[in-house]
Amino acid sequence: MSNVYVFDHPLIQHKLTYIRDENTGTKEFRELVDEVAALMAYEITRDMPLKDVTVETPVMEASCKILSGKKLGLVPILRAGLGMVDGILRLIPAAKVGHIGLYRDPETLQAIQYYAKMPSDIGERELIVIDPMLATGGSASEAIRMIKNMGAKNIRMMCLIAAPEGIERLQEDHPDVDIYVAAVDEKLDEKSYIVPGLGDAGDRLFGTK
Ligand code: PRP
Ligand code: URA
Repeated sequence: MSNVYVFDHPLIQHKLTYIRDENTGTKEFRELVDEVAALMAYEITRDMPLKDVTVETPVMEASCKILSGKKLGLVPILRAGLGMVDGILRLIPAAKVGHIGLYRDPETLQAIQYYAKMPSDIGERELIVIDPMLATGGSASEAIRMIKNMGAKNIRMMCLIAAPEGIERLQEDHPDVDIYVAAVDEKLDEKSYIVPGLGDAGDRLFGTK
């Protein structure tokens, strides 16, 4: 699992427990996903390169640092990925946002495409594909294939919960994409839901059941 990074910060783990809890209602679920996404954004940007600049403070000239690397782009997979966008944008407000519309056919488990709109300069950006759930990995793999076809080169995947099966699929299909998660769960059940997971992320976020 060499390209998988688990964010074990206590605040992330604490909030994830309440996200998993079936008694957590839509409003609180949404707030918690938003908060965890912001905390994960803080962690995922740790390796961003810096450069030296000089500023005049009210006291003297000072040598300081600012970000110097590629600009960022967020790519939420609709619908559930939307729940993580605002939290990340609070820390990285200048990031552009592309959208990929996919849903998992409940029978075949195939990812079905219905929308794609990317910033025109995705080839120059560091992209973070966002989805709370990496189950079979079919949706994430298809989303990444789609954005690579549109010119994306530097891609990371950020999820709340991944199943080992989804990680394996993504590593096989896209070995160049590092995976950042809050938890790796045990397995998939017979309907390919993550166990123990959190249920259906889109339904819990948007109150559709
Ligand atoms: C969920 C989830 C992922 C996908 C994961 O979306 O948000 O996109 O399933 O499953 P996979 O790894 O097996 O592909 P869903 O298809 O339920 O659509 P939604 O976000 O619109 O609810
Ligand atoms: N999609 C979800 O929302 N939850 C799962 O456990 C698997 C796929």
